[in-house]
Amino acid sequence: MDTIRVAFDLFYDLIKPVVFKLTDKDPQTAHELFIKFCKLIHRFGLEELILDNKRNNSILPFELSNAAGFNKNGDIPPTVLNFLGFERVVVGTVTYDRWDGNPRPTIRRYPETESMVNWMGLPGVGAKEVAQRLASYGNHGVPITINIMSTPGKQGNELLRDLEGTILSTRNLNYVNRFELNVSCPNTHGKSGEMDARDENLRMLDYMLKVMDKCLHHYQEAYFKVSPDSTSADIDDTINVAKEHNIRGVVIGNTTTQHNKKYIPISPMINGKQVGGASGNAVYTNSLKVQKAYDKKIKDIGKDWKLIVCGGINSLERLSDRLMYGANGIQIYTPLVFSGPKLLRELRGYKK
Ligand SMILES: Cc1cc2nc3c(=O)[nH]c(=O)nc-3n(C[C@H](O)[C@H](O)[C@H](O)COP(=O)(O)O)c2cc1C
Repeated sequence: MDTIRVAFDLFYDLIKPVVFKLTDKDPQTAHELFIKFCKLIHRFGLEELILDNKRNNSILPFELSNAAGFNKNGDIPPTVLNFLGFERVVVGTVTYDRWDGNPRPTIRRYPETESMVNWMGLPGVGAKEVAQRLASYGNHGVPITINIMSTPGKQGNELLRDLEGTILSTRNLNYVNRFELNVSCPNTHGKSGEMDARDENLRMLDYMLKVMDKCLHHYQEAYFKVSPDSTSADIDDTINVAKEHNIRGVVIGNTTTQHNKKYIPISPMINGKQVGGASGNAVYTNSLKVQKAYDKKIKDIGKDWKLIVCGGINSLERLSDRLMYGANGIQIYTPLVFSGPKLLRELRGYKK
């Protein structure tokens, strides 16, 4: 059935410019259309026929999953993402309470440089609703990671109870065998009232990891997701804190607030201030730099933590670079938007 896949690639390339044009003012609308498409093909059991990117592939030497944000509320059926080419499905960021996030539009696309900037601010339907959606997919067999953070605005014990509530609401779901703590979102409202709460999150890391130690089932792995803007001090501090906990690995990294003009010629501004985190090509260099630093430091302290990496991985060359510097898993969001499903087939063709 390779003809169907080639036809689907062509279809993607044909409709992409039209959809980009129509959704230029609010690119989130394009993602909502994509989610509708996924639900539709799932309802008619067509995901294998239309999407089967895993065909003819043996087991990959790395784990391939979607990056967080792509399936925030678990709306995309896991089997659809699996047939699209992902071994594992990441859901979230999930917060305990329903949260509207920032007023739309909160995404800007830069097709010329295959980059995006978003300042969504963790909108979501809340942990209990996400759990119901995931439970409705029944015996789907696809490993699930829940990416978690507290509902924006919560502090101290309230923040920790929020995280605990999310874990308790989702940990008994079938196939949920990993949690990813997102301490690197640059778009949330911290105590300071600023958009960027990353420093505040890092100060709470020890307490948040304690909640994960306490609440995860023994078969569930704990990861924390760090920023591609991490400084050497951030890297040292997070490793020193995390080594006292039941950590399985680190996810590197989120979006960057360092908007390189080469990729983001005009940054989104709100009230005269630059907003948002950049992804895709705009984050590749930072993300790889931070990956190399974590890889080295983790080896130095003799931990066998896994590294899961994302940020502009849009070619076999970039995939090889990431694997060379210790990556065990790859996550994709922005490059999939610009390249379409054929990218996942290309990455799945990786040979050592
Ligand atoms: C629109 C959008 C929404 C995102 N939402 C989240 C999120 O909710 N939680 C999170 O941890 N990362 C989120 N991210 C960051 C991605 O998971 C990923 O770390 C980053 O985009 C770099 O990978 P990429 O270049 O493959 O997109 C989001 C990214 C984008 C583009």
